[in-house]
Amino acid sequence: MQVYPDIISLIGNTPIVKVNRLDTGPCELYIKLEGQNPGGSIKDRIALKMIEAAEKSGQLKPGDTIVEATAGNTGLGLAMIAAVKGYRMMIVLPDKMSQEKISHLKAYGAEIVMTRSDVSRGHPEYYQDLAESLIAKMDNAFYVNQFANEVNPQTHEEWTGPEIWQQMGKELDTIVVGAGTAGTITGVSRYFAKVAPHVEFILADPEGSILTDLINDKKVVQKSASWMVEGIGEDFVPVTSDFSHVSRAYPVNDKQSFHAARELLSKEGIFVGSSTGTLIHAALQYCREQTDKKRVLIVSGDSGNKYLSKMFNDTWMQEKDLL
Ligand SMILES: Cc1ncc(COP(=O)(O)O)c(C=O)c1O
Repeated sequence: MQVYPDIISLIGNTPIVKVNRLDTGPCELYIKLEGQNPGGSIKDRIALKMIEAAEKSGQLKPGDTIVEATAGNTGLGLAMIAAVKGYRMMIVLPDKMSQEKISHLKAYGAEIVMTRSDVSRGHPEYYQDLAESLIAKMDNAFYVNQFANEVNPQTHEEWTGPEIWQQMGKELDTIVVGAGTAGTITGVSRYFAKVAPHVEFILADPEGSILTDLINDKKVVQKSASWMVEGIGEDFVPVTSDFSHVSRAYPVNDKQSFHAARELLSKEGIFVGSSTGTLIHAALQYCREQTDKKRVLIVSGDSGNKYLSKMFNDTWMQEKDLL
C-alpha cells in the first residue's frame, strides 16, 4: 500500500517541470509547481509550520480560533489545517481576491471578513490593520501574522530551499521568485547563501510595488499604485524580509503577467496562477539577456484554477482592456 495518513502529509515535495517551447534564449527554464500542494499553493508549507510552532509554544490551544490577514492562499492553507485539527478559522481578506478563493475558503468552514483593497497600511480597513483590531477584542485566539512571523522565512530556509537544491541535482544558476510576505525569497536565498552562494536570486515584482526600487536603487518610495496580480508585490517592507541576497528586481505589469501565464498554458500545457505569470515574464526577460547557458528555476506559487473567472476569462480580460 502507498497511502498517506492525512492530507497534511501531502504538503511539500512538489514537482519541477522543464519549459520546452517558450523562447528562453541560451538558458534552460524550470518551474517548481507549488500549486500541487493539497491546499493549492506554496502557502501550505508556512501554514503548517506556523500552526505547529504555535501549538508547541502554547500560543494555540485546542478550541482556539486562528485569525489571519491574507491575500487568500495562506488562508487556504490555514483553513485546510484548521479543518484537519479542529480549530475555528477567521480570515480577513482584501476584496480584490478571486471568487474561487473566497468560495474555497468558505467551503473549508472558514469565517471571512471582507475588507477594502484600495487602502494602505495604517488605514483601519487595511486587511492587516483590521485583523489586528479584531484580535485585540478576542479571547482564545491566535493571530498568525505571516508578515512578521519568523517561522515563515524559516520554513523556506529549512524545507523549500533544500528540496529545490536536491531536486535540481545541485545544478542551478538562478532562481526567480515573487514576494508577498517575502518569506519565500528570504528563506530560500538564505539557504542558498550557505550551500551554493553562486546561485543568483531575481525578484519578479508587479509594477507599482515598492520592492523593485528597494532592490534596484536601495530606496523606499511610497506609492499608492495597485495591481491585479494576486499574492505578490508590496506597499511596505515586511519586518521579516531580507533582500540582501537578491541581485535584481524586474517590474512586470498586469497585462504582461496575464499574457505570460496564458502563453504557458497554451504552449506548454502548464496551468499556473497570475503571480507565476509575473515570474514567467521576468524569467524570460532574464533568460534572453544572458550570453551563457544558465539553469533557471521559477518558484510558482499557485495553479491557474483560482483564476478561471479572471485571467483565463476573455470577457473579464476585455473589460479590463487587457486583451
Ligand atoms: C500565488 C502566490 N505566489 C507567491 C506568493 C509570495 O510568497 P511570499 O509571501 O513567501 O513572499 C504568494 C503570497 O501570498 C502567493 O499567493
